[in-house]
Amino acid sequence: MSVHSNVKKVTTHVLQEMKNAGEKITMLTGYDYTMARIIDTAGIDVILVGDSASNVMAGHETTLPITLDQMIYHASSVVRGVNRALVVVDMPFGSYQGNSKEALSSAIRIMKESGGHAVKLEGGQEILESVSRILTAGIPVMGHLGLTPQSIYKFGTYVVRAREEDEADRLIEDVKALEAAGCFAIVLEKIPADLAARVAKEVTVPIIGIGAGGGVDGQVLVVHDMLGINNEFNPRFLRKYHNLFQEMLSSFHLYIEDVRSGDFPNEGESY
Ligand code: KIV
Repeated sequence: MSVHSNVKKVTTHVLQEMKNAGEKITMLTGYDYTMARIIDTAGIDVILVGDSASNVMAGHETTLPITLDQMIYHASSVVRGVNRALVVVDMPFGSYQGNSKEALSSAIRIMKESGGHAVKLEGGQEILESVSRILTAGIPVMGHLGLTPQSIYKFGTYVVRAREEDEADRLIEDVKALEAAGCFAIVLEKIPADLAARVAKEVTVPIIGIGAGGGVDGQVLVVHDMLGINNEFNPRFLRKYHNLFQEMLSSFHLYIEDVRSGDFPNEGESY
């Protein structure tokens, strides 16, 4: 019997209960075993294996280059580090937009090969057929609207979305369509706080915000950003809980100094 068998796992139903009870949902990204283990031990509700791995792990400028195989690699590493949290895996660009059959086979690969618990797709009514087909296979789907980084070349910039009435109306329609299709939660990225709060009130599906203010049902941040490992990204919505870039830099400087001076290793550190 597993030593962890009495831990109450977070499921999609738990997230719905949390919204119904007015409890905030916590979510962070994770891409590897070690970090996932720490985040899960802290008691996070959801770990998102985000395609932001393309930026923070692989150093690409956008999320577009990451492949399905690479997402499965990251997700399976995260799953091995998690005991309690719900693990949601981003479907990468090109793995679901073509047609719904391809979307379903990509989602099945993610679930079978990584052991993740759910998938996330960017978009609204234009990907509804894919969302519905994945759901019919019993795979839980999280939606993602507002600023959707896989469409960055269409938007042209990372500025706040849905400030204009027509885009806000379209976003509300998309949220309702994803909710009706059966998504278990929806991420809203970088939209005005009052619009996000209004949406979260109008629908029963849990709404998780990033740059969408405090009136939603939960929050998500990219773990490298909130730890300050990434010192080049400083948007207004980001709260940095650490300056790990500087802390790590100091440690690396000390190590280099110690090795060069012959101070490391000392007798106690030798056999
Ligand atoms: O890939 C990602 O990290 C995300 C979050 C920003 C929501 O989609």
